[in-house]
Amino acid sequence: MLKGKHITLYVTGGIAVYKSLNIVRELIKNQAEVQVVMTKAAQEFVTPLTFATLSQRPVLTDNFVAQSAQDDFIPHIKLARWTDLAVVVPATANIIGKLANGIADDLTSTTLMATSAPKLIFPTMNTTMWNNPAVQTNINTLNLMDIRIVDPDSGFLAEGEMGKGRLPELNTIMVEIFKMFTKPLLAGTNVIVTAGGTKEAIDPVRFIGNNSSGKMGIAMANVAADMGAHVTLITTVHDSLSSPNLNEIKISTALEMQKELENHFESSNVLIMAAAVSDFRPAHKADQKIKKNDDKELYTIELKKNPDILKEIAKKKSGQFVVGFAAETENLIPYAKKKLHEKNVDMILANDVSKAGSGFNVDTNEITLIRHDKDPETWPLMSKSDIAAKFWEYYEQNIK
Ligand code: PMT
Repeated sequence: MLKGKHITLYVTGGIAVYKSLNIVRELIKNQAEVQVVMTKAAQEFVTPLTFATLSQRPVLTDNFVAQSAQDDFIPHIKLARWTDLAVVVPATANIIGKLANGIADDLTSTTLMATSAPKLIFPTMNTTMWNNPAVQTNINTLNLMDIRIVDPDSGFLAEGEMGKGRLPELNTIMVEIFKMFTKPLLAGTNVIVTAGGTKEAIDPVRFIGNNSSGKMGIAMANVAADMGAHVTLITTVHDSLSSPNLNEIKISTALEMQKELENHFESSNVLIMAAAVSDFRPAHKADQKIKKNDDKELYTIELKKNPDILKEIAKKKSGQFVVGFAAETENLIPYAKKKLHEKNVDMILANDVSKAGSGFNVDTNEITLIRHDKDPETWPLMSKSDIAAKFWEYYEQNIK
């Protein structure tokens, strides 16, 4: 897939520079043409000669002298046009800040700004730096600019501490590079995902809620966005956005969720209802915090039935593929089949939430996929991200 592709590898100054050597080797092994550009700081860690030897072409550095094998090479414009994919690895807080703020003061930043090629960035730095609000603001800006940022890994850092900031493993980096050349399978698909447990207010400080962490729904949303879908995530919990394709709408109650769903459903192709919606809400929300009374033992909250959001929205289907979840503690398949019919949805992803490692507030789940006129299909226990990847692969192959 990389054969003949022009990849420009920008190496900026961090301790992980030496790891970029292996990336060059892998790219060359995959028959890509690799042009390395090094900042001044990067050259303090590894010499350009090492990169030139591995990439089989002279390295461009920040002194603006034409160093290419081609005589007429004008570095920043020609290189910008030559490039099919620009990879910045490792990417320092400095280059991230320059790109986010339009500063072009060396060959690396100038060329990155002059190229219209897709950009893939692997930040590595000290954990405190990574968490610095200025760095995070710059990362968000780059996300909005459609630049793909791969979050650093957590682990042992060069300064002898554990934390987030490490360069991901070579294999992960290569998968990300391959992905940049793969046609997004869900491009043009509008997806709505609901996630998290609704919160139904009793008074200004208390609510009826549940244990849903939003992990299952957020995984569904992130993977779909990574596969090119445009995703609207209607959620009670906030997550840092993994993709510019993801639009997060934060809500609290079932009624707010229903309203947002109604606003977006008509223009969607797929709905994934992973949220744990409260079936009831307090009939009246107290204006002030309810005081306890020393003489009173028993308190009553009158509850009102919430709408069955999924059942109601499914009545408005006009070609959308509607997926519900079923959270059960017994009779998983019969109960889930009942929901499939009663709510008139196209698929139910049933999970037995009483099983260890399944359901609420854990990173894994065991799903049984239930469709009309098809045998149930049970997938083994796996991470919620893997379930999401398997689900969207299934959708792409069997339904889309
Ligand atoms: O968020 P996590 O911690 O990762 O946990 C994931 C999960 C267990 C919450 C998720 O996998 C899951 O099962 N979500 C659905 C939970 C639920 O409300 O199940 P249910 O069987 O009660 O409802 C069936 C379907 O109807 C669900 O799609 C639900 O979103 C929907 N529903 C339910 C009640 C209601 N009033 N309106 C609805 O739309």
